[in-house]
Amino acid sequence: MKVGGVHYRTVWMEGPAVRMINQHLIPHRFEIIDLPTHRDTAEAIRTMIVRGAGAIGAAAGYGMAQVALEAPDDERFSQYVAQGAETLRQTRPTAQDLFYAIDRVLGGIVAASSPVAAREEAVAIAGRLADENAAAGEAIGRLGADLLADGARVLTHCNAGWLAFVDWGSALAPIYMAARQGKRLFVYADETRPRCQGARLTAWELCGEGIPHAIIADNAAGHLMRRGQVDAVIVGSDRIAANGDVANKIGTYEKAVVAHENGVPFYVAAPESTIDWESPDGDAIPIEERSEDEVLYVEGLSDAGELCRVRLGPAETRALNPAFDVTPARYVTAIITQRGIAAPSELSRWAPPSR
Ligand code: MRU
Repeated sequence: MKVGGVHYRTVWMEGPAVRMINQHLIPHRFEIIDLPTHRDTAEAIRTMIVRGAGAIGAAAGYGMAQVALEAPDDERFSQYVAQGAETLRQTRPTAQDLFYAIDRVLGGIVAASSPVAAREEAVAIAGRLADENAAAGEAIGRLGADLLADGARVLTHCNAGWLAFVDWGSALAPIYMAARQGKRLFVYADETRPRCQGARLTAWELCGEGIPHAIIADNAAGHLMRRGQVDAVIVGSDRIAANGDVANKIGTYEKAVVAHENGVPFYVAAPESTIDWESPDGDAIPIEERSEDEVLYVEGLSDAGELCRVRLGPAETRALNPAFDVTPARYVTAIITQRGIAAPSELSRWAPPSR
């Protein structure tokens, strides 16, 4: 997508360095950050300089390419690669795309006949993963746009736009595609406490695309749905279990229940790489717990134009911060992948042949 008329991907590789948009600073500043080693890339994933399932998958793929480039050219090669993969695996636990990308690049490294061939293969696979990610978003956009009528009012939670992928996004891709087809849409962007990906990132993306929208407080969605002001909900996903249960940003579950109660279609948009065929249902999906500071503080721009953070609660109050929740499949109207649109109960038609 474009920023100031220039096409950007969220994350890419230049020589041995991984480069990415620094998402901590959006919407207030636009900066690219350089990550010279796989440890820097892992730290950027852990601290959410890059975030969103698809984007951290692509970043982890490039991180694995860095591992192969850095590994010593002798008998220590395999051990360095295994340790590097483990460092990247330990960054964040919920997003399936992270593990999918690490395993794909690792598979190429292990199958190569020499360290030199392994390096070439790792860089090539990481690049392919990023291209596949962008292409999946575009295909999801094309398929999902047909679900949105001219004039539709769409609610989304968190950020599953192009910043959460390499390009296009998942939940926002159908909105971008429908808007390009000339449909007039209005988007309600849940602010998405505690890190406010909706207020900061989704709103910034929608501004860039010129799509009319409003940020709403997280607890306003039920009110709007009950009053008939929402025609569809589209969210992304961090991991989809084999039975169609969906893990996504905390707060998604309650939006799905309220949508169901009010007869509003609830769509989940995600590439196939987000489906975890090894998790039979949502209970098997690991849910990340993050720092209580994300709840106790808010970050933003002061009236003086400085980035700052302020504390919300009393100094002695503690907080809980589960980062994701699971929406049972029965609340999901359909899942949109790059291969088609299916009810959760039909997901198995895309299962790999080995299953
Ligand atoms: O914690 P984050 O920002 O990495 O969370 C991931 C998400 O952005 C959302 O859960 C999103 O809806 C799905 S990821 C495309």
